[in-house]
Amino acid sequence: MGTATIPMWEPSEVLHEGAEATVTAGTWMGKPAVLKMRRPRGYRHPDLDRRLTRQRLSVEARVLGRLHLIGFPSPSLYDLDVEGGWMLLSRMDGRPLCDALRDGSADLATVKSTGALIRRLHEEGFSHGDMTTHNILVDASGSLSLIDFGLAKISPELEHMGLDLQVLNECLTASHSEFEGAVEAMVDGYLRDGGSEFGSDVISRFDAIRSRVRYHG
Ligand SMILES: Nc1ncnc2c1ncn2[C@@H]1O[C@H](COP(=O)(O)OP(=O)(O)OP(=O)(O)O)[C@@H](O)[C@H]1O
Ligand SMILES: [Mg+2]
Repeated sequence: MGTATIPMWEPSEVLHEGAEATVTAGTWMGKPAVLKMRRPRGYRHPDLDRRLTRQRLSVEARVLGRLHLIGFPSPSLYDLDVEGGWMLLSRMDGRPLCDALRDGSADLATVKSTGALIRRLHEEGFSHGDMTTHNILVDASGSLSLIDFGLAKISPELEHMGLDLQVLNECLTASHSEFEGAVEAMVDGYLRDGGSEFGSDVISRFDAIRSRVRYHG
């Protein structure tokens, strides 16, 4: 479908052309916005592809709606067309954590805050599902936000929350190996309140996943 028909949307530039989605910046009712358009995956059967697209868009919309209600730093949902495969979101300030770590504008304190933010997300009853340093944004003042909730879970199991930490751990150790102590900072931020059962249960699961990966990965 053509995106020319989206009401009140004025595109300006393509921000991201990924395997799953094209993200275009622009304005919606005059406000900075992005259009996230799911793209068909050639290798998947069209019916399966449409079903997955619909499913991810509806999950993302539902999660963003709930996060908005609790004031969690994530995009607002402006408009959505599940059949058309697109959603309009508020445009977040900042750039991906991976870039900020690479050029030194983010440091261990940022990673610790990231751990705390993930803890908050989990405590509110969501897992993210794709917690890479591309989906964590840092603005000029160092404030963090999360994007890309298409693989999120509402009422996640311990395993899903442990996996969020493991995905971030892999990003931090693989692409940012120069950051000594990054994983410890992440865990530290996650356990900000020390001895609570919730935090230590998730961290135990994260440790179990880590050793699983070490031996069998
Ligand atoms: N609300 C937003 N505000 C600002 N930038 C955004 C927003 N949403 C997405 N982006 C930018 O577009 C990129 C891709 O968006 P997103 O992560 O939601 O899609 P994706 O599912 O990862 O796409 P793919 O899997 O195809 O790479 C982000 O890494 C970010 O740079
Ligand atoms: Mg992404």
